[in-house]
Amino acid sequence: MIADRIKNIKSSFEIDIEKINSPKQLEDIRIKYLSRNGLVAGLFEELKSVSKEEKPVLGKELNTFRTFVTEKFNSLKEKIDSNSGASEDKLDLTLPGIANEIGRKHILTQTLDEIRAIFKGMGFSVSEGPEIESDYNNFEALNFPHDHPARDMQDTFFLSKNFLLRTHTSPVQIRVMEKNEPPVRVIMPGRCYRNEAVSSRSFCMFHQVEGLYVDTDVTFSELKGTLVGFAKQFYGEDLKYRFRPSFFPFTEPSAEMDITCFLCHGKGCRVCKMSGWLEILGCGMVDPNVFKSVGYDPEKYTGYAFGMGIERIGLLKYNIPDIRIYFENDLRFLKQF
Ligand code: PHE
Repeated sequence: MIADRIKNIKSSFEIDIEKINSPKQLEDIRIKYLSRNGLVAGLFEELKSVSKEEKPVLGKELNTFRTFVTEKFNSLKEKIDSNSGASEDKLDLTLPGIANEIGRKHILTQTLDEIRAIFKGMGFSVSEGPEIESDYNNFEALNFPHDHPARDMQDTFFLSKNFLLRTHTSPVQIRVMEKNEPPVRVIMPGRCYRNEAVSSRSFCMFHQVEGLYVDTDVTFSELKGTLVGFAKQFYGEDLKYRFRPSFFPFTEPSAEMDITCFLCHGKGCRVCKMSGWLEILGCGMVDPNVFKSVGYDPEKYTGYAFGMGIERIGLLKYNIPDIRIYFENDLRFLKQF
């Protein structure tokens, strides 16, 4: 009887231990077979009621069985303990960490922040205007004649007869002057739109920073001083520059500022079209007609204005080959800055 029971329990024990792979299952096995009320203890209980003749033989067999179960159990326990230690409470310091990707400012925002900080240091405040503008603020008040090519549908995104997507940040000058009496000293960053053929050098949307300073006795040499001061801080002290006469309807006289090419340092290369110079901004003295349209007395006040493209600065400074790459949100590009 007992011999049969030992056989049965042994085979069920062997099946049970095959399935074990957690400390919890191991404990269940211990309770089932080796605890005080377990199956092995039960066999010893049964041993009490066998005959005197059978007892020594069966007792020996039972002891062997108990040793077998205990040893199997202990070696299994050792195995499971060493495994579970690693997964549950031991920390593997050699594992590579999980990097937390953090975002960054877009290169255009970084450039704008830099420009803003430089002009802030020179006493300029910051104003912004809407991207949807009236024809009046974008053209009329800025002294654009009615037949100016920029007023053509080919160049400007008109939303209706009188409203359009601003083609430059200069209309913010009008808004600022209409609301404030001189002196005004302000920069005006923002997004602009032009209905142009998209290419590596021009996109239908881009960013500008406008500058405006109006007071009594503002001179062209102050304009030059401010822009040279800015360019030296932004591009480096040893920068070479020149001002070239130009034309804008809202400034008179007008100029464009060039700096020596970053790439060839003036020798002439593909980027500067062999001239050695790169144009970085347009500027000039505010046209008296503009003062008239905002109700400033052109006899009393003078002022200067300037405007620069932000994408262009990066194209030049970082030798970015295509303007469209700014707006494609390709992380391989954005992560370089
Ligand atoms: N608005 C001009 C442009 O878009 C730049 C400019 C601004 C020129 C202010 C002179 C003064 O090209």
